[in-house]
Order: sequence, then structure tokens, then C-alpha cells
Amino acid sequence: MADNKTLAEITAVKSETPEIKVFVLEPRDRSLLAKIEPGAHIDISVGGHLRQYSLCNGPEDREFFLIAVKKEPESRGGSRAMHETLSVGDWLEIGPPRNNFRLALGAQASFLLAGGIGITPLLSMARHLQCRGAPYRLLYFARSREQAAFFEELSSEKMREKAAILLGLDAAATRGHLAEVLRRPAEGTHVYACGPQPFLEAVRAQTDGRWPSAQVHFEYFQAQEKSADPGDRTFKVKLASSGEIFEIPPGKTIAKVLAENGIAVEVSCEQGICGTCLTGVLQGLPDHRDELLDDDVDDLMALCVSRAKSDLIVIDL
Ligand code: FES
Repeated sequence: MADNKTLAEITAVKSETPEIKVFVLEPRDRSLLAKIEPGAHIDISVGGHLRQYSLCNGPEDREFFLIAVKKEPESRGGSRAMHETLSVGDWLEIGPPRNNFRLALGAQASFLLAGGIGITPLLSMARHLQCRGAPYRLLYFARSREQAAFFEELSSEKMREKAAILLGLDAAATRGHLAEVLRRPAEGTHVYACGPQPFLEAVRAQTDGRWPSAQVHFEYFQAQEKSADPGDRTFKVKLASSGEIFEIPPGKTIAKVLAENGIAVEVSCEQGICGTCLTGVLQGLPDHRDELLDDDVDDLMALCVSRAKSDLIVIDL
């Protein structure tokens, strides 16, 4: 087991909807529970797959990790294994909470947009904001009442003033509703969106160029489809600690080239969405290809996908 991994016991499992199961996980290393934050996720190794699952619980509830897993019909094995092979009393290898989808400090209000199982990190945010009495609004788009997870909680007296569940809207109606609610950027309001790719693209279509990019935050389940850039060229990467220099040709990532040379870079999703491989940049200009960092970030990069705009980039390894 890698150094930063630990074991966690499944202490409860509940079917939230026919497709979504909720798991309560209690880590052997209980100090990890202190790292629970709204928007955070944990890595879970299951059935030979490494998957990232957002935490549904927030810092007010630090007794366990709570995750909700949707059984995806096109699952490559992760969600199917979670649904079909695990039960109370089983132990799983997990990583510590990591957060690439943080609530902005000092926001005047938060607008949470969830599509389907994308409700998980936004529920954690809503619970946290609710506890703090901070202004927020949550819109949860679900296919039907039966497929809406956490329906009772979100429609409870406590939350229903702030949370609305929109059931059964087709793609055009969803886009229309998003266009309406995102029509005018609100000063000091931060937007958070999580859901399937078409849902996130619909949010992006309404916010790009209209809302300040620093006020709009996305959590992706998978990387956006990107075709190989024919303009990719070879660049050099230098390790700050040893001074070694490696060439990164088109079609290969920094993480891959370093691994081929015996230099271990911790990776997980290898799609630029989980943040595991984020590494400091000490010199040179990164060319971000991940879903985490804004274009103007020049001191950090995802080694699993990103490249360099400069001929040489010096990384903090
Ligand atoms: Fe997930 Fe690089 S391994 S962002």
C-alpha cells in the first residue's frame, strides 16, 4: 500500500435510489477525518480500479466519510464493483481527502448547480453553508423523483427554501433553465457546477465570457474530449532537485517520460481531473491541459496531461 493510503471499513450501505448506493466509510487512520472539506473527494481502490468519489458530508460531520456511488451502465468496473462486490464489514484502500473544488473564501453567495450524481460534492457544500447560515441556492436536476438522491433531505423544511429539485427536464429544457438563472452575473456570487459532461457544457455555455471565470467552478467526472493538438512539440523538463533534464515529445506526458526513467510521479486519474500529480513549477510556462487550473496559473501543473509553452520548464521534483 502506498504511503499516503490507508484502509477504511464499510460500516453502512444504503440504497439511495435504484442506481445510487451510499457508503459510510470509517478510516483506520482517523486523523484523515479532520481533512474533510466541502467539495473534497477521496481515492478508492476497488476491483483493481482507482476511482475518485466526492464526499457528501462536510466539516460539521467528521465521524466518517460518506460517499454516493452511481452504478454506471458503461462502467469500466469501478462503480459496478462498488455496487456488486462490497458490503458492510469489508475494508477498502483509500487515499486522504483532496480538494480541487473548494468553496471560495469571502464569497457573498454561492449558487450550486447539480446534474444527477453531481449532487454529491454540492450536497456537502449545501450542508456546510446551511450550518453556517451563509447565503446559497442549490438547483438539482434529476431525471425523476425515483432517481433523485437525497430527495428527503433536500426537500426538508430546513433546506427547501434554498434548494430546488427540478425533475424530468430534457436537455433543451435544462439548457433553457440554466440560461434563465445564469443570465445575469451576480457580483460576489460564486457558481459551482458538477454533473455529466453535457450538463457542465450547458453551464459553461452560459457563463463563459459573461461571468468572471474566477467566480465559476467546475468539478468533472471525466476529462473533456480533447483531440490531440497537432501543434504539440517537444519541450524539456528539468527536475529542480537533481538537475536532470528530459525531453517530452508530442504524444507522451511528463509523468510517462519520468516513469520510464525510473522517477515515480504519483498519479491517479491520469486525465487532469483529480489533482494527485499537481507539481510546482519553478521556471518556464506551463500549458495547462487539465480541468483544474486556470490558464493564468504559472506555478503549478498537472504532470499527467499538461505540457509547456516554453522550451524548458523546471518543476519542483
Ligand atoms: Fe489526476 Fe494528474 S493524475 S490530475
